[in-house]
Amino acid sequence: MPQHEQHPTTAAPRRAVVTGSAGFIGSHLAHALVQAGTTVIGVDRRDPSADATAIANLASLRGLPGYHHITADLLNCAIDPLLIDADAVFHLAGIPGVRPSWGPQFSDYLASNVLATHRVLEACTRIGVPRLVVASSSSIYGPTDGGASVEADRPKPASPYAVTKLAEEQLCLAYAERPVGPSVVALRYFTVYGPRQRADMFTHRALQAALTGQPLRLYGDGHQRRDFTYIDDVVAATITAATVPTAQGAINVGGGSNASLLEVINIATSLTGRDIQLQQDHARSGDVLLTRADPSRAREVLGWQPRVDLHSGLRAHMQALAAQVPNYSRAA
Ligand code: NAD
Ligand code: UGA
Repeated sequence: MPQHEQHPTTAAPRRAVVTGSAGFIGSHLAHALVQAGTTVIGVDRRDPSADATAIANLASLRGLPGYHHITADLLNCAIDPLLIDADAVFHLAGIPGVRPSWGPQFSDYLASNVLATHRVLEACTRIGVPRLVVASSSSIYGPTDGGASVEADRPKPASPYAVTKLAEEQLCLAYAERPVGPSVVALRYFTVYGPRQRADMFTHRALQAALTGQPLRLYGDGHQRRDFTYIDDVVAATITAATVPTAQGAINVGGGSNASLLEVINIATSLTGRDIQLQQDHARSGDVLLTRADPSRAREVLGWQPRVDLHSGLRAHMQALAAQVPNYSRAA
């Protein structure tokens, strides 16, 4: 059973910068680091005094002496002063999501995922930050033949979002090859779920539908599969990536729970005791039928493997959501 907000970690940097700290993964990471004794500078363009998502995501960090929040856009803010004396930069800021990346929003994806990353890399190089951990994505693999994706596989990104994540990752790895650049670990996260998951994502929507009775829109037939990865496991891998001296290059963070969307729907139904009303819709462009991580490199390099199974993780995710649904009680 996951211990939410009790992220177990063995070692942590003394001082770190977390970009995207008002987001889903970044806020969990920042909290775990502070708990482990790290002084954290969190940077995000969402204003935690005005933006509802930022307010909710940063609630558990508010008032903690080890956390300092800077509201700033990495596309134009002065980054150097934020990085002084940092042992590690965790670069999670970016525009996520496969489906909205088609069309005019692509320029935002390009700006935040590639151009802002370039600014972070230049600043890390100038200040001499020793380690950068960057959030890459399973989406860079694209369609697979059904086997597990290995880091050495040739990437075939199938959406504009995935193209920007591949560019972001490769840009970081190119900087790491320079004698003056930071060492870089690019973590390829596989569909992360758990409390505070983004509201556009499937597990959030499935659990929300089961809790509220609102319909769930299903893109495709529901047989598409993902390596669902629980947030605490992702946080543990991310902190370890900053502290293992020999770690470098791309590493898959996934492989715990491969399941179809229909299986997630079944678990959500059994957890809540309520059926989900499905609204069938067409499959979306760029949406792959399967993601599956080969976790060997993560195990060998980081000594990391996922610990939280899908049922336990979804229960913790559901309990966090249920606390926000007025008058929710489990159906008999
Ligand atoms: P999120 O949207 O919750 O968090 C991203 C944060 O980055 C947001 O708070 C946003 O305001 C901030 N941000 C974006 N552009 C910025 C800029 N220019 N300057 C400052 N802040 C900026 O997303 P998330 O799900 O927490 O994802 C975090 C990272 O992990 C992203 O890079 C995403 O591509 C990657 N990733 C996520 C998943 C997943 O399943 N959630 C899987 C693979 C990779
Ligand atoms: C997720 C994140 O959203 C990306 O930011 C991240 O880069 C990616 O994981 C990753 O692993 O790299 P995705 O796997 O598409 O992307 O996760 P969801 O957005 O939760 O979608 C999962 C599946 O559910 C997709 O097939 C999607 O079409 C479907 N879905 C989603 C629905 O059927 N209905 C919805 O309302 C939402």
